[in-house]
Amino acid sequence: MRPVRDAIAAATAVLSEAGIDAPRVDAELLAAEVLGVPRGRLGVVRGFDEAALTRFTELIEQRATRRPLQHLTGSAPFRLREVAVGPGVFIPRPETELLVDWGLARIAGRSAPVVVDLCSGTGAIALSVAEEHPGARVYAVENSPEALAWLRRNAGDEVVVVAADATDPATLSTMDGQVDLVLCNPPYVPDGTPVPPEVEQDPRPAVFGGPDGLDVIRKIIPRAAGLLRPGGWLGIEHDDSHGAAVPALLRAAGGWSDVSDHGDLARRPRFATARRHRPAPAEPAPMTLADFTS
Ligand SMILES: C[S@@+](CC[C@H](N)C(=O)[O-])C[C@H]1O[C@@H](n2cnc3c(N)ncnc32)[C@H](O)[C@@H]1O
Repeated sequence: MRPVRDAIAAATAVLSEAGIDAPRVDAELLAAEVLGVPRGRLGVVRGFDEAALTRFTELIEQRATRRPLQHLTGSAPFRLREVAVGPGVFIPRPETELLVDWGLARIAGRSAPVVVDLCSGTGAIALSVAEEHPGARVYAVENSPEALAWLRRNAGDEVVVVAADATDPATLSTMDGQVDLVLCNPPYVPDGTPVPPEVEQDPRPAVFGGPDGLDVIRKIIPRAAGLLRPGGWLGIEHDDSHGAAVPALLRAAGGWSDVSDHGDLARRPRFATARRHRPAPAEPAPMTLADFTS
């Protein structure tokens, strides 16, 4: 029996040597996975038996090749839940949880808001909204067949999966003008930007958004404009270099008010938001002589 503490210390050294950002965290999470306990309970486990140690060593070796941790555990935490992940689908990132926070605040108090998650991937955004705002009717739009397989697996009957191009004017067009909230974490990294080895294992079309990173965002804005009811809200995640560009695109498009940009926990620009114009209240009709004589 190998004591847990010793095995984790040795694994941490291997992962550190491989350039992993938080080697001890990853070693502990993989140990917890193998031992079938929450990470916080590792201290009460007697140790690794031979089979468990072999499995742990294999996982650490794979992680040392920079295979994403979430591909090894098969899931990624996102807000209150875990979503199933693996090759073919983008691994949800913690910073996107802030976009969901913002979106939930926009629909607070509405009994049955209609919410659309464009570029849904695993469905992390859509599923979080469905779970955290009971009564919301949530649609998750995704166009990659590989990602759709993961999305359907995660979605169950909690959200409606829509296999479609999120930028196509025909997508969900029967709901045009009726949607309360559109959330979107599209591919937005400018082509050619160096990314860590783990990100290289996310599907390319999930990560890169053309020469300036804005190819998909440019086309999402008009689709969101079509979907939203007057007064409905849009939130789009973007690259940290886009803190001015995405709000500028929204202002230039017209038909939006309350355009602003929001930082992540590291205060990097992370998502832009805007509200679909509400029609101005109708002007009272000018009075005529008849108003005084009738
Ligand atoms: C950055 S990932 C985000 C996934 C998920 N929303 C999240 O936050 O974890 C972008 C996703 O958009 C999908 N995608 C890219 N272009 C799309 C398009 N035109 N229509 C629908 N989905 C698209 C990709 O396949 C990928 O799953």
